[in-house]
Amino acid sequence: MAQEAQPDTDTPVISTPVQYDRMMVVLHWLLALGLIYQLGLGLWMDELPKEPVGYRAQWFNLHKSIGLCLGLLILWRLGWRVTHSVPVSVNASGTWQHKLSLLTHRAMYACMFLMPLSGFLGSNFSQYPIKFFGWALPKWFAPDPDMKSLLSEVHELTATVFMALVALHFAAVLWHVWVKRDGLLRRMAWGRANHD
Ligand code: HEM
Ligand code: HEM
Repeated sequence: MAQEAQPDTDTPVISTPVQYDRMMVVLHWLLALGLIYQLGLGLWMDELPKEPVGYRAQWFNLHKSIGLCLGLLILWRLGWRVTHSVPVSVNASGTWQHKLSLLTHRAMYACMFLMPLSGFLGSNFSQYPIKFFGWALPKWFAPDPDMKSLLSEVHELTATVFMALVALHFAAVLWHVWVKRDGLLRRMAWGRANHD
């Protein structure tokens, strides 16, 4: 008697993600909002007058507190990113669009790591303690104006490069949405099942 075909249980089922998982989606949009606010706050507060005493410092402390929270979210995102798979690029492998998108994403991650780090370390070399929502954090280093100004340069430079990268990223998304119409935006949406 012919044997009934049995499912081959040894063959692994390969499922390719077709969109980013929900943790990545939440982190992407939360950080996009938070980082845009933080960039605006940083540029605005830098122009504030030093009088009356305390006014400028209060905005600086808010910037530092939000920046530290964003830094933790960024570490979480980086950890998640390296331990989870992401969908294959919509751009054909080897094309300049594929190479440029990889480069832009990596450079954005590098800036996202360096901005809070340089802000935190720079503030630790200043004469003022970081007040995390009013709570003074312990100082790591003795005040050092040279280190403070070096790290301020790094902070400003990475923030400037980051703004240019975000503008490029935004332009690329619009190109995909309006010109290529390849459903790119849906890959970073809450959506439903994440696998084929
Ligand atoms: C501060 C603002 C933003 C940052 C830092 C940011 C960062 C990133 C990064 C790093 C990725 C790559 C994800 C990965 O593969 O790990 C990504 C993907 C994506 N972003 Fe943003 N983003 C920002 C704003 C936006 C905005 C405003 C839009 C839409 C208008 C957008 C739409 C997307 C989409 C659709 C993807 C998925 C791309 C793909 O499927 O290959 N992003 N974003
Ligand atoms: C992702 C997080 C952050 C972003 C996007 C960001 C962005 C910025 C921007 C755009 C400026 C104005 C730069 C300029 O024109 O000089 C600035 C200034 C500043 N930021 Fe941040 N920042 C972040 C995190 C932090 C953190 C965590 C701290 C400290 C704990 C911090 C401390 C400062 C200080 C003290 C300044 C004044 C200029 C200086 O002394 O460096 N930032 N930030």
